[in-house]
Amino acid sequence: MTVLVRIACTLTLLACLACSPAHAGGSPGQAELEAANPVRALPAQAVGHDQALGDLPAPPDPQRARLGRWLFFDTRLSADGTVSCATCHRANAAFGDTAPVARGIRGRTGRRKAPSFINVAFAFFAEQFWDGRAVTLEEQARAPIANDREMGGSHDVAVRAIAAVAGYAPFFRRAFGTPVVTLERITAAIADYERTRISGNSPWDRWRRQGEVRAVSEEAKLGDRLFFGKARCDRCHVATVLTDPKFASLRAARAQANRFQLVGNSFTDWRFHNTGIGWDARAKRFADAGRFEVTKDPAHMGAFKTPGLRDVALHPPYMHDGSLPTLEAVVEHYRQGGIDNPYLDSQMEPLELTDAEARALVAFLKALNGEGYQDTPPALFPR
Ligand code: HEC
Ligand code: HEC
Repeated sequence: MTVLVRIACTLTLLACLACSPAHAGGSPGQAELEAANPVRALPAQAVGHDQALGDLPAPPDPQRARLGRWLFFDTRLSADGTVSCATCHRANAAFGDTAPVARGIRGRTGRRKAPSFINVAFAFFAEQFWDGRAVTLEEQARAPIANDREMGGSHDVAVRAIAAVAGYAPFFRRAFGTPVVTLERITAAIADYERTRISGNSPWDRWRRQGEVRAVSEEAKLGDRLFFGKARCDRCHVATVLTDPKFASLRAARAQANRFQLVGNSFTDWRFHNTGIGWDARAKRFADAGRFEVTKDPAHMGAFKTPGLRDVALHPPYMHDGSLPTLEAVVEHYRQGGIDNPYLDSQMEPLELTDAEARALVAFLKALNGEGYQDTPPALFPR
């Protein structure tokens, strides 16, 4: 016993001696950085998805995704070094937020909630943000860095701050061929990291795809029937359901799957709809015009991007303004046919649901918590 302890102590001492030169000046060495944030192979196809990341026309690059993981969690991208992307896109809330509206630099608040971006790699339509104003993830990532309510910096300041971190140079070199730090490289790396956040293997997937009958409760199964049936949630929150009995033949199922495959399997059509959230009945206007702000098309007044529903239980409150506190409240919103307004989506109508059915829909939504995307900040950052 004592011998073992002594060996352990000696080993620890040796390890400390071995790494102490690297600690000179407080900078972690290459090997430690590698260990804290290794290059990871792209994940295999998750149960519940029709493709793997590697099948994409432009799959994320593992070296860039690794660099992006550091940058995503690095507060040095913000003007005062206090805010990182992860401040609002919280890793333990499925990269969404648990605050109704985003809180950024110096405690300033924005007007919308930070959405989750898991499974964004499989998005068929590329528009980012609740109103779709950015068309690529790279373009999207530029915005918060310079936004004075989010990270508060300017692009130049952020690029200079990262370029000043000598420890980043070898990792930029490995990701892009040279150590030069540019805004394009920073956003490309972050975007590739975001693309690797894929959620699948949920209890619902295991039941639906692998026939694991006990993976979900009977209540969640009823919720599934309602979601794709009477409640018609899948008009907007689309997903492939190959085993659905409503497909008479396998051929019909395949045709249907191909249609949905284009959209992915994240319970969204990636399109914009008005469900009435944010309508002020007295003033007869929307607090936030949503998609209309981008297109100026009156048909888009008060329309917001359909959010994906995987892992949705992890990031209340809900909707673009965080106005609905729970999943129960969300189902109640739909039960009443949304909030009536002149621009309400024609697919919204009051639903005849019993209380038990409303509860079943919530149980179904909770069965969509998956795995594969979870992460924690790297233990060490380049200095
Ligand atoms: C202060 C909080 C805050 C910070 C910091 C922040 N975001 Fe966001 N993010 C938001 C909010 C709020 C939205 C929605 C804004 C909108 O739709 O107008 C958003 C939207 C997004 C989206 C779009 C998701 C979708 O479904 O359309 C992505 C992707 C994203 N952010 C990534 C990032 C990255 C990368 C960083 C770091 C460079 C970052 N965010 C920093 C609050 C934040
Ligand atoms: C007409 C299209 C449409 C239909 C039908 C629809 N949704 Fe939605 N759903 C949306 C849109 C758009 C949003 C975001 C609205 C907003 O933020 O203003 C949303 C938001 C949600 C959210 C909140 C997600 C988050 O991250 O905040 C949940 C949960 C949800 N819907 C579940 C359902 C359920 C359950 C049904 C069926 C009872 C349903 N939806 C039917 C379009 C739709």
